[in-house]
Amino acid sequence: MRLTLLWLVLLAWAYLVSPSEPTTPLQVLPDNIFILAGQSNMAGRGGVAHKMRDGTVPLECQPSPSILRLNADLAWEVAHEPLHADIDVNRTCGVGPGMAFANAVLDKEPGFGVVGLVPCAIGGTRIRDWARGSRLYNELVRRAETSREIDGGRIRAILWYQGESDTVSREDAELYKQRLEKFISDLRADLQSPTLLIFQVALASGQGRYIEQVRQAQLGVNLPNVITIDAKGLPLQPDGLHLTAEGAVRVGEMLANAFLKCISRSTQNNPTTKILSYLICKFWMHIVFWFVLVILTVDRAFYRKVV
Ligand SMILES: *[C@@H]1O[C@H](CO)[C@@H](O)[C@H](O)[C@H]1NC(C)=O
Repeated sequence: MRLTLLWLVLLAWAYLVSPSEPTTPLQVLPDNIFILAGQSNMAGRGGVAHKMRDGTVPLECQPSPSILRLNADLAWEVAHEPLHADIDVNRTCGVGPGMAFANAVLDKEPGFGVVGLVPCAIGGTRIRDWARGSRLYNELVRRAETSREIDGGRIRAILWYQGESDTVSREDAELYKQRLEKFISDLRADLQSPTLLIFQVALASGQGRYIEQVRQAQLGVNLPNVITIDAKGLPLQPDGLHLTAEGAVRVGEMLANAFLKCISRSTQNNPTTKILSYLICKFWMHIVFWFVLVILTVDRAFYRKVV
């Protein structure tokens, strides 16, 4: 009798402390904001031929209620391809890395929260077009600031894929590293986020002959919290410049993997997390110890009674 009672109490306790069913309130605003900037391969040209979009959307780029985008009118809406349609307005936009990135992050980290993408990339732009004070730069800062003002979501990273247009002149290629580092420092300062994560893509292609010089500049950037993934070798369209939809999806997935690796490393190194896991471990050791003790005591008492 007493044993049955004990088991009932334990069962009730286990039920009470077990994690409750995940409730999914309809979240209409993003928790995690990502700014997408650069030129055409970030804006997306996958599935575009002769300025016509074939309309196919890869499985990895399908819309989801957990992926929003900040449209040109500075309002959040459910994101879908082409992500940059109302931003890079003078070109035909197709599949880029953005949707594949967001889907890959949510696939691997289901509890991540709603993702908000802020498309800002414009085709055919050079790094100096993005210098502090330029129209592109101001627009980037304005959209980034608005994105977090609307609901207090947090900008988790900038995804940057640019440089194809800087491979045409030797001067642009030579000045690329310096201009890129200045751009990153200015942007971090103006967003009041000095350690903001930047994920950049080393070029897969270019419009000129200095591709390798620009790539070396990108791979050689020496700033904290700048992580570079390499798109070299990914499938290109017949123009030799733009990634295919498949290539864009790969870039998105590589960016997602780099981001997830980065945040898992920072949680592991977080001292609060370490102390917390130590305490949780201690707590469970105590529970098990007392549980065994109680069982043994009760059992012995029970047997003594029967015998
Ligand atoms: C599109 O072209 C118009 C006319 O040349 C120009 O004023 C505008 O800035 C361009 N927009 C973008 C986003 O490139």
